Amino acid sequence: MTLQTPLCDALDIEYPVVQAPIGSATCPELAAAVSNAGGLGHLAVTWRDRKDTRRVVRETRSLTDDPFAVNLVLDDATTVVDTDEHLATVLDAGAEIVTLSFGDAAPYVDRIHDAGALVAQTVGSADAAREAVEAGVDAIVTQGLEAGGHVQSEVATTALVPRVADVVGDDVPIVAAGGIGDGRGIAAALALGADGAWLGTRFVATEEARVHDEYQRRLRESAETNTEYTTLFDKGWPGTPHRVLRNETIERWERSGRPPAGERPGEDDTVATTETGERIERYDEALATPTVDGDIGAMALFAGQSVGLTDDVRPAGALVDDLVSETRTAISGLPGRTNGDG
Ligand SMILES: Cc1cc2nc3c(=O)[nH]c(=O)nc-3n(C[C@H](O)[C@H](O)[C@H](O)COP(=O)(O)O)c2cc1C
Repeated sequence: MTLQTPLCDALDIEYPVVQAPIGSATCPELAAAVSNAGGLGHLAVTWRDRKDTRRVVRETRSLTDDPFAVNLVLDDATTVVDTDEHLATVLDAGAEIVTLSFGDAAPYVDRIHDAGALVAQTVGSADAAREAVEAGVDAIVTQGLEAGGHVQSEVATTALVPRVADVVGDDVPIVAAGGIGDGRGIAAALALGADGAWLGTRFVATEEARVHDEYQRRLRESAETNTEYTTLFDKGWPGTPHRVLRNETIERWERSGRPPAGERPGEDDTVATTETGERIERYDEALATPTVDGDIGAMALFAGQSVGLTDDVRPAGALVDDLVSETRTAISGLPGRTNGDG
């Protein structure tokens, strides 16, 4: 069974499976492994400086001949490089697909097209999807409430995707994100009207992802009920809800009566340090990368409800293969699930 969808045609990929931008967990090895397996690999460069951005885009290009995407978060509450300059670097480094989230892509669409690249925007509602289509984007990404990381929508994927599909029609391919952890979820996303699926948490648990072993251990061992949608880890990116694994930082804050920022328990605690000696405070949004040293379990451990389906750490290419065959099985198994009596 072919899984060729309009998304595959638009982005020139074999399978409608996207490794989501997962912040600093992304790296050339991860993106290239996914793209080489026929999915769409992704670099997320928001928290990299321009030099490092150029390096990772070029390095990824050297590891795969297939398309991969580069993501920028537009919310200047968290960006470390001016978006205009960062986008110039991304395009100059040769990015062919740019994905933009947490903001309006409209001011950047023409520039990206003029550079010969394609652009996708993440949305959290049908209205936002309509505006993105009017702005001329080449693909729409819906991100549902179940998603790990920072979350753009208060609507669940099952309710959001068909609404966006109704608005967008056949004009622009749609990619569904949030809560998808295996091929059954991908098949469901296609049934809801999406043309592909964008998986974040599942790809954090791959051998190539740049995250700490303790973070991956907790992902493997957590159930779908173990995440929290919160605004607690607000240092470094205030004002945007996020979904993380429940941990001692959350539980201690709840036990102390959920006080507001500035009055939370251990507000100024240093829970860990980066390789370069920078302090990570208790309510920091910093990612637990492999070289972070300290109390990893107290940090923001971003995860979607898909974490319940994230039981092991696999090579990313093998994960793409498995997701594709699971999707085929899920789709071909559908008629057998009914007795045909109507
Ligand atoms: C660790 C982590 C980091 C993330 N970083 C980004 C990012 O840099 N840019 C972005 O647009 N979305 C980011 N997201 C959101 C994902 O792209 C995606 O929408 C989400 O993971 C989908 O839900 P799932 O985790 O259930 O698959 C991140 C998610 C996680 C788990």
